[in-house]
Amino acid sequence: MSSPSVIPVPPAVAAHARIDEARYKAMYERSIRDPEGFWAEQGRRLNWIRPYTQVKDVDYTGDVRIRWFHDGTLNACWNCVDRHLPARAGQTAILWEGDDPAEDRHVTYGEMHEAICRLANVLKARGVKKGDRVTIYMPMIPEAAYAMLACARIGAVHSVVFGGFSPESLIGRIQDCDSAVVITADEGLRGGRKVPLKANVDAALEHCPAVHSVIVVRRTGGKVGWAEGRDVWYHEATAAASRDCPVEEMSAEDPLFILYTSGSTGKPKGVLHTTGGYLVFASMTHEAVFDYRDGEIYWCTADVGWVTGHSYIVYGPLANGATTLMFEGVPNYPDASRFWQVVDKHKVNIFYTAPTAIRALMREGEAPVKKASRQSLRLLGSVGEPINPEAWLWYWNVVGEGRCPIVDTWWQTETGGILITPLPGATALKPGSATLPFFGVRPVIVDNEGNHLEGATEGNLCLADSWPGQMRTVYGDHKRFVETYFSTFKGMYFTGDGARRDEDGYYWITGRVDDVINVAGHRLGTAEIESALVAHPKVAEAAVVGYPHDIKGQGIYAYVTLVAGEATTEELRRELVQWVRKEIGPIATPDLIQWAPGLPKTRSGKIMRRILRKIAANEHGQLGDTSTLADPGVVDDLVGNRMNRA
Ligand code: WTA
Repeated sequence: MSSPSVIPVPPAVAAHARIDEARYKAMYERSIRDPEGFWAEQGRRLNWIRPYTQVKDVDYTGDVRIRWFHDGTLNACWNCVDRHLPARAGQTAILWEGDDPAEDRHVTYGEMHEAICRLANVLKARGVKKGDRVTIYMPMIPEAAYAMLACARIGAVHSVVFGGFSPESLIGRIQDCDSAVVITADEGLRGGRKVPLKANVDAALEHCPAVHSVIVVRRTGGKVGWAEGRDVWYHEATAAASRDCPVEEMSAEDPLFILYTSGSTGKPKGVLHTTGGYLVFASMTHEAVFDYRDGEIYWCTADVGWVTGHSYIVYGPLANGATTLMFEGVPNYPDASRFWQVVDKHKVNIFYTAPTAIRALMREGEAPVKKASRQSLRLLGSVGEPINPEAWLWYWNVVGEGRCPIVDTWWQTETGGILITPLPGATALKPGSATLPFFGVRPVIVDNEGNHLEGATEGNLCLADSWPGQMRTVYGDHKRFVETYFSTFKGMYFTGDGARRDEDGYYWITGRVDDVINVAGHRLGTAEIESALVAHPKVAEAAVVGYPHDIKGQGIYAYVTLVAGEATTEELRRELVQWVRKEIGPIATPDLIQWAPGLPKTRSGKIMRRILRKIAANEHGQLGDTSTLADPGVVDDLVGNRMNRA
């Protein structure tokens, strides 16, 4: 492979850089040499009620302890809203663009403050206290942000569940964190289609008797079921509530939110983030990575149901007093020009999206992009999965016309914020590389035995030390936290990703090395999909792997062994696809299901996924060592009957 080209910082960007290459190097070096001093300074970007005197208290061994700024107190909502009021009460905080291009809304900091206070009082009236968990299952409307911030205001811990998850998934997430209150909407609206959010909540709550209150935003006006006493309309309850609500004083290490994410084993885990460190990190990364300047329009296309929405639609931008654009719709509705029409309509300066969206739009050609001027754009971002150089170059040339730096930001739900990324004024770019570590971040590449690999190399990506935005525990299961992240390689946080480091020290994320797959930027555990499949009465066994997919990055390939005597019909195949959609949600829809008379196993009964991945990827010429297979004949059958894919 020829070495990829390097794209220097565009001169016009370099001329205005707040952090240029020399400054990045100096700040990075300082952040590693003196993390205490570095973060003590950065922490001051927030308003603290009681200032911290302690900065970092971290031990990656034993039980694992991670604390930042732990003797300080603050309130996240205050920092995202109230403190901006003197200067920005009339400035747009949330610029909402509806699914229907005719609908939009400008919500000022002042209006947002009032809405949050009213909702916080409704929550209090419903008995929500500091430390209680509240589940949020919402479309992309400003009320979703109000709900998160209202929780933060009174010290409740929010758990946002992506609106694309099924009632079944919602049950697990409500029960795991014992929420007694759910905030939702009648229906969501995406690409002209309705999403039955309230109906899904109703179905889920049949199994969640502890939920006593459901607050329902009227979005579409669609007909919904109603449980008297339990359900309340958001507009009625907030209209009757007071607009004054003092903030709760929180310790820096009090939980701010739980966000469920998929791992390589078992059910999704509740990633727990706390207040002080998370907010310092979200705020600082938002400002530095996107080079956010006062008055600019910033747009992150993620959903608030994912961590990207938490850190880079809500907490980071609002902590910085930014105008954050919140988009209800999808990239191809009413047509493939939508993103760029929105950019022109609202004069968006900074645009942050996912590679899967870029690849899908790339397929539509340049015309839909060229229909818009995009003159306001000055910075582009990418997140969620590795971006292939071809898509990167299209983003650079066609969307950005060679003038907008692209920040390819690598991070995870667990990391709270961006860890490996270019800084627009400082970093020469290489298409497909997330480039260099952010301040305070110490990436290391290790082999499977945990030996540090130096220089240009490839292996498992770990982080040698903590950063303030790091998750603190798995909600209710600290043991799982320690086992998942700190036991594979001792004394380090293991990311689950593989990475290559080139001769310039640039990082190239190669994708997950565990059993997590990334489908259209949505993170899924193969184990979850497998357990959904085997829950079907006709399925005896299932193994799920990812395979390369042109648009989605990875597709879902399931090998299914039926119960003896069951026939392998097309009808059953369709039924299993529907079954998984119902069990988890549409994002987990299997792309291909292959009937497997048997699965390749070791003599000790372990499924050899490596082989299944190779077959799914059509690389069965390179199966590698198969000498440990209990029954090599199984593999021949699977190779012979592999599913053709587009
Ligand atoms: C992948 C999303 C390559 C990676 C913020 C990681 C990426 C997982 C990138 C986390 C990127 C995210 N380049 N891979 N720029 N960003 N990933 O928790 O595999 O939904 O471990 O967080 O997405 O996904 P999650």
